[in-house]
Order: sequence, then C-alpha cells, then structure tokens
Amino acid sequence: VIDIRKLYAQTGMFTYDPGFLSTAATQSAITYIDGDKGELLYRGYPIEQLALHCDFMETCHLLLYADLPTASQKEQFSKLVTNHTMVNEQMQFFLRGFRRDAHPMAVLTGLVGALSSFYHDSTDINNPQHREISAIRLIAKMPTLVAMAYKYSMGQPYMYPQNRLSYAGNFLHMMFGTPCEPYQVSPVLEHALDRIFILHADHEQNASTSTVRLCGSSGTNPFAAIAAGVACLWGPAHGGANEAALNMLHDIQAQGGVEKIGEFIRQVKDKNSGVKLMGFGHRVYKNYDPRAKLMQETCNQVLAELGLEKDPLFKLAKALEKIALEDDYFVQRKLYPNVDFYSGIVQRAIGIPVKLFTGVFALARTVGWIAQLNEMIGDPEYKIGRPRQLFTGAERRDVPPLDQR
Ligand code: ACO
Repeated sequence: VIDIRKLYAQTGMFTYDPGFLSTAATQSAITYIDGDKGELLYRGYPIEQLALHCDFMETCHLLLYADLPTASQKEQFSKLVTNHTMVNEQMQFFLRGFRRDAHPMAVLTGLVGALSSFYHDSTDINNPQHREISAIRLIAKMPTLVAMAYKYSMGQPYMYPQNRLSYAGNFLHMMFGTPCEPYQVSPVLEHALDRIFILHADHEQNASTSTVRLCGSSGTNPFAAIAAGVACLWGPAHGGANEAALNMLHDIQAQGGVEKIGEFIRQVKDKNSGVKLMGFGHRVYKNYDPRAKLMQETCNQVLAELGLEKDPLFKLAKALEKIALEDDYFVQRKLYPNVDFYSGIVQRAIGIPVKLFTGVFALARTVGWIAQLNEMIGDPEYKIGRPRQLFTGAERRDVPPLDQR
C-alpha cells in the first residue's frame, strides 16, 4: 500500500483512479470484506454467525459502539431506539406535498433530509452528543418514514409505531396494519426481515457510504448526510438492484419463464444489448456473496411459511443462477449472485411492494452510514473530502464579444 499523501507532499504526484478501483479513500475498523474468499465481517464477527445468533438491535450496537452488547446494554439500547420511533406530526403535512405515485425513494430522500428541520438540538456533526442522539433518532425513525411513504402511496392512514414490538415486527405492523385490523406479526416473517436488516447493515466503502462520508466531511448535519446516502443508494447499480432484479425476473417470466433463460443469457452476453443480469456481480466479491447464501436460506423459510414453495419466480431465480454459474461468460468474469438476487423474492413474499425494496435497504443501511460517519468525524486526521481531477478541457482563451462568436 502506497501512502499517496506522503508521496504528494514530497513530489506533487497524484493518482488517477476513476471509480476508486484501487484507491482507499479512508482507513476503517468497521467492516471487513475478503472478496476472493467471499467473507464478510462486522467488527471481526462473521456475518453468518451474526445472522444466526444476533438480532438487528445487537448488530446496530456492534456497528455503532464496536462491540456486541451485554444483555442489559441490549435492553437499554433497544429501549432508547424504541423511545424515538415516532416522527413529528408535521411530517405528514410535508408528505402530503408529494404525488401519491412518487417513487418511495424520492419521498424518503425528502423526508430524511427534512428531519434536520425538526431536531435543532442534534445538527452539529462535530459534537459527539449531537451525533449520538441523531444516530438513535435516525435508526428509530427510518422504519416509520418508510412505512409512512408506503401508506401514503396506498392512500391509507399511517399507523403509529407500537413500542412493545421488535424493530422488525414494528415495521411490519406499520406497513401492513390498519386501524380496522391489527397486523398479526408472523415470527418467521419478522425473523426474515430482521435478517435482511442485518445483512444490509454495512458494507464498507460502497457508493452510498462514500457519499455519506463525503457529504458529512463538509460539516453538514447528520440528517443531511444520511439523506445523501439514501439518494445514492437509489441507483440500479447499487441499492436499486433488488428492485431491478425482481423486475428482470418478472420480464423473463412474462416472456415464457425457464425456457427463455437461454435467450436472456445470450442478450446479457451481447454488450450492445445493454442488458445485465441484475443481482449478479460485485465490485469487491469475486466469489459467492456470503449474504446471498444466507438470503437464499431465508427465502426457502419464508416461502415454506407462506405455502409458496412452488413460487415460479423463486424457481426461475434458482434456474437462472444455475445456468449462469455454469456459463463461461460469468465464470471468467467471476460474476456470482449478490445479496439482491434473493432479497427481492423474500420481500415480495412478505408483501412489500417492489418499489419499496430499496427503501427497506436504506432503512437497514442507516446504521452503517452513521457508524462510518462517526468513525470519520472521530478521526483526528479527518479533512473535507476533495477529490482531484485530470483536466481535459479547453486551454486558456479570451472571451470574444457576443457579435463575433
Ligand atoms: N451482468 C452481465 N455482465 C456483467 C454484470 C452483470 N450483472 N456485472 C458485470 N458484468 C461484466 C461487465 O460487463 C464487465 O465485462 P467486460 O470485462 O467484458 O467489460 C465485467 O463483468 C466486469 O464488470 P464491471 O462492470 O467492470 O464491474 P464493476 O465492479 O464496475 O461493477 C456492479 C460491479 C456495478 C455491481 C456490476 O456487477 C453490476 O452492474 N451488477 C448488476 C447490478 C447489481 O446487481 N448491483 C448490486 C451490487 S450489490 C449492492 O449494491 C448491494
């Protein structure tokens, strides 16, 4: 590893690395990925063990405070989060300004950004107490905001959070409960959603996390920095991939299902077609994404619980995965399914609409964004992020008068 800062100070040399393929933008002690082995650790703990033995609240504690909570710390932390699940009533009037058919990510970007206008006591990013309370507020309020965006799109009344429920259970209640009929939270679906949250909680310096860091490095408030992360996550090459993957499966299904996979794969291989196998490939994983394995397992459990074992999209996804993994094109490029390949099927089975998938991802990733933001601000060497450029435009020239141009 070359420390370019030292090299720059000594020689004036800097590097050109679009897409940050080989440049570390920061040091971090939060999440470790070994892309060749297909390994993911949060603060040293393997994702498989966290998914098996911990819940999302413990994972949040781990990411934020660098260690798993004791039983009493867990209780205290969960209680703190629970105390902040409601949003200001004014938020519903703000929400009313959106078209009902607005994309939930457009709505969520606005709602999260708007939080800074309600909490003037926690907008100083350089103040650790402000950062701590804004972290709790964001983690607590994200499920409420995502559910509000959904209810608004449906024209249904919002459901207030119920603090006796778990984090995932409360989200299900706010999404699917109505004032006429309380939602009976199924433990299998609650567990599946909790696992989705754990698997999406952090993933080191991905595009949205880097966006949050860059945005926060200017000294803006934590809510604004997280809103920037939500906006970045929306893109189909990033968090929007779960929505895109499910839409792709629907398209193949509509064209004839499993029989049409061969034709679809031919299109993917044709670079001029612009078609990609969504939910496949990753900048860092050059092996099976460990989250995809866990998600596939959850998918089986959820479909069994709901009696959907013969779900045609799940069958199609499995067939597509099998064919792609045996195909030279994918083998040579080390393209494997990523977490989004199966998370869409799980979310759809739970009843979450496709357009809200990325919102659920944003809800889960919020804790990772905050942990990364805290790490950056807490670093005594932190500076405003300011990428350099290689200028390729016109040389210096004089402005001709208007009538001579
Ligand atoms: N389908 C078909 N071909 C692909 C795919 C894919 N999904 N992904 C990569 N390739 C090909 C590229 O065309 C390229 O081929 P070439 O060498 O012949 O030019 C080669 O594999 C390398 O791909 P890059 O685009 O250089 O890889 P990069 O690291 O830049 O991109 C990315 C990673 C954006 C995730 C890409 O694989 C992709 O677009 N995948 C589909 C979208 C997706 O699932 N995103 C979710 C990422 S995970 C997450 O955000 C939670």
